[in-house]
Amino acid sequence: MKQLSSSVHIAVALTGASGAIYGITLIQQLLHCGHRVSFLVSAAGRQVMALEQGLTWSEDLVQFQQQAREFFNDEQQNLFCYGEQEFTAPLASGSSAADAMVVVPSSMGTVARIATGISGNLIERVADVMLKERRPLVVVPRETPFNTIHLQNLLTLSQTGAIILPAMPAFYSQPQTMDELISFVVGKIFDSLDLPHQLFKRWGEKE
Ligand SMILES: Cc1cc2nc3c(=O)[nH]c(=O)nc-3n(C[C@H](O)[C@H](O)[C@H](O)COP(=O)(O)O)c2cc1C
Repeated sequence: MKQLSSSVHIAVALTGASGAIYGITLIQQLLHCGHRVSFLVSAAGRQVMALEQGLTWSEDLVQFQQQAREFFNDEQQNLFCYGEQEFTAPLASGSSAADAMVVVPSSMGTVARIATGISGNLIERVADVMLKERRPLVVVPRETPFNTIHLQNLLTLSQTGAIILPAMPAFYSQPQTMDELISFVVGKIFDSLDLPHQLFKRWGEKE
């Protein structure tokens, strides 16, 4: 994959799969590193975030952005929020595409719709733009067990150029907290985007 430059524009989409904390932590870390983030959330993603994290975002886009900038303590104003049906958003066009996109967590529904090119909401459209422009698209699916339809759709995405990065933390570093498990997955997303990070200790790395 092409090396991304020091400060990049990443679209982060949270959909209605369990594991909203992965997406939230990714946004926090990207902003912390000075990257620009476009935050997309599906209607089901909003429900899961409310249920798992107690986070309720306004349906009003101006308020949504204000709330999110406050929540993420985004003093640099690097965070931009978009509605699910906001097809006029710049990043919906290949001429103004983000440098990369991460769908985290990704529901099996969103996986299926990206794999079949539906582009029925902004998340699916931006993912479609990433694939057609040959830019990095990282999909973090969350479901267990997978059925054959899930696996076939994930294979289609992988064959089309997406990186399939399941939310599967490793245990060889003997994690003691949930934060460490989350940081491992988020660190792997940084790795897949060629972005430097210190989110986990690498195998063989000294303290
Ligand atoms: C609490 C909760 C957890 C869910 N977890 C998952 C999940 O882990 N994986 C999944 O594929 N769907 C999950 N779903 C179902 C999706 O939200 C549902 O299929 C939805 O249509 C996905 O829409 P979206 O892809 O537009 O976000 C969950 C739903 C709820 C309410």
